[in-house]
Amino acid sequence: MRISPSFLSSDFRKLKEEILSISHAKWLHFDVMDGQFVRNITYDYELVKEVASFSNQFFDVHLMIENPMLFIEDYIKAGADLITFHYEADPSRVTLLIDLIHELDAECGISVKPGTDIEVLGPYLGRLDLILVMSVEPGKGGQSFIMSSIDKIKWLDKMRRINGYKYVIEVDGGINQDTLPLVKAAGADIAVVGSYLFNQKNRNQLIDEMEND
Ligand code: DX5
Ligand code: ZN
Repeated sequence: MRISPSFLSSDFRKLKEEILSISHAKWLHFDVMDGQFVRNITYDYELVKEVASFSNQFFDVHLMIENPMLFIEDYIKAGADLITFHYEADPSRVTLLIDLIHELDAECGISVKPGTDIEVLGPYLGRLDLILVMSVEPGKGGQSFIMSSIDKIKWLDKMRRINGYKYVIEVDGGINQDTLPLVKAAGADIAVVGSYLFNQKNRNQLIDEMEND
């Protein structure tokens, strides 16, 4: 199972060292928060540009922001390989957002919060590269896994088997050695791991173990 490490819980005073400590991960998960869509502020595309100067991992950028339409191009120019926006941030312009991200040659993901019905994504599944199932309330790391996320993963896996959709299923929040097998069995392809990884020292070894489990 692919791991996309989130450095939200890392020590930002030594960011380069922290990100280099997870160099075995092919993906790197950026948690962008604007203090509007979620009650927390992290960083913007300038940080993506800075990290791009020393990492050639696949940049998996999770936009927890209002009005993503305004900022998508900045993140792609800064180095984002995949942009995930939240359905709840702009439900009436989902198709336009997908079009914009693909026109700018990035991959497109869409995310839903725990309280949002996964079936709202039905009309868009045929066009998406990734679906990000939030298994915690977006806004901070270190929260507990919400078990109802499992049913959303199973629904997405069933829909792509029935319809031949190509999207990958990513799950985000509260992933550790206990919840990882649950989401894998439900059909998830990629797991975002933040605090579980950054609370340990042997991070690359953990990444190798979780990717090979
Ligand atoms: C929460 C972020 C998650 C979070 C995951 O809003 O989207 O990526 O950082 O962190 P853990 O793994 O600590 O739940
Ligand atoms: Zn995230």
